Amino acid sequence: MTTFSLRCGTLELVQGDITVADTVAIANAANSMLMGGGGVDGAIHRAAGPELLDALREVKRALPGGLLDTGRAVLTPGFGLPARVILHCVGPIYEREGERAPELLASCYREALALCREHAIESVSFPSISTGVYGYPVTEAAPVALGAVAAALAEAGPRLCRFVLFDAETLQAYLLAARDLGLEPG
Ligand code: APR
Repeated sequence: MTTFSLRCGTLELVQGDITVADTVAIANAANSMLMGGGGVDGAIHRAAGPELLDALREVKRALPGGLLDTGRAVLTPGFGLPARVILHCVGPIYEREGERAPELLASCYREALALCREHAIESVSFPSISTGVYGYPVTEAAPVALGAVAAALAEAGPRLCRFVLFDAETLQAYLLAARDLGLEPG
């Protein structure tokens, strides 16, 4: 694990499986339908259990057309997960969003962190949103994700933001991005 101390919180980079993360909240890389899918979305639904779908159906009722826009985040309980809360984020589909992709990706992290502050959630784990099925090159996504989170932690909490990265290549991309952003480990 690599740790960076920022003014208002700690940023961690670690390789692992986000479904076993012990932070109060974990973020999900969902789609606009919010009815599950593959990748980390599938893993989180399997670990959380069937109640998660019921909770998301409830959330969808308040959304226009039952869809969550790209760049937005909504919150549900964690049910069978160790995490108490799941922050469902809809990342950009890289090919479809084009030059809007960085802003929409940053928005996912900013919205998730705003929900943490609203709900007094002191620790959150993020996967590498959009860098799987949604095709966002991880070398381009990592600086956007870390930039958004580091900027937020310069101003306010949560106390701990952890990136739980599923494979060594993704972890390496985030470590390089942290270095390029001038983040000092320790
Ligand atoms: N823990 C942490 N990270 C994981 C896990 C896990 N258990 N499983 C997969 N990942 C990683 C992937 O390796 C990738 O780095 O999450 C990152 C995001 O990949 P995806 O899960 O494919 O998410 P995304 O690219 O945002 O695409 C979202 O895929 O699964 C569907 O329903 C989802 O339609 C949505 C789309």
